[in-house]
Amino acid sequence: MGKDVIIACDFASKDACLTFLDKFTGRKPFVKIGMELFYAEGPEIVREIKKRGHRIFLDLKLHDIPNTVKKAMSVLSNLDVDMCNLHAGGTVTMMQAGLEGLTRADGTRPLLIAVTMLTSTDQESMENDLLIKEPIDKVVMHYAHNAMTAGLDGVVCSPLEAGKVHELCGKDFVTVTPGVRFADGDVGDQKRVMTPAEAKKIGSDYIVVGRPITAAEDPVAAYERCVAEFCD
Ligand code: C5P
Repeated sequence: MGKDVIIACDFASKDACLTFLDKFTGRKPFVKIGMELFYAEGPEIVREIKKRGHRIFLDLKLHDIPNTVKKAMSVLSNLDVDMCNLHAGGTVTMMQAGLEGLTRADGTRPLLIAVTMLTSTDQESMENDLLIKEPIDKVVMHYAHNAMTAGLDGVVCSPLEAGKVHELCGKDFVTVTPGVRFADGDVGDQKRVMTPAEAKKIGSDYIVVGRPITAAEDPVAAYERCVAEFCD
């Protein structure tokens, strides 16, 4: 699995995002487009960024009845994104339907990864709100295993979980990990963080990095630093 740095383009508008991407005149980074930008600008933003030569992780975290997810995934597949995701909490059947919808007539498809338990959910809220009484680590691993059973390519997880996910689901099962910070950088609102070098050591396949790059004085230099620490 080729290691790569994915920049979280958490911008509110197309203009802000494209102004940011204009700075990258050399290597074209793999970018993540999330709900905010996609809902603000629609599918056109995906086409525009794709046209500029970037690979795209479309982070829309689908979760609905299997038939709806299947049809929505088939639309995303036509957008020619490189990676997209859904919630493992939607069940194995929903994940299988998503995979089916994503697969094009010629058998090709973007990578499909699952969100296990959101990092904003903790043991207490999981027990009280979702009535799931098992330890959260166990739930995360169970959801990862369900994603593998459904035929998905991997999961989004904390870099701290990446090693365990590989142990359970195999080294080819992709781990995409946010929560990355430079050793000398601001942690911000992230609670459990790792440096790109640590994420590499623990076996993350892709790191998703937002503010350490987007808010840097020199975003291109910050991106190259991430690549040097994580990929080289
Ligand atoms: O700016 P920062 O590096 O914290 O951005 C991390 C990105 O990864 C954001 O787009 C955030 O929504 C996403 N993410 C996360 N934690 C998760 C899942 C996604 O930080 N558990």
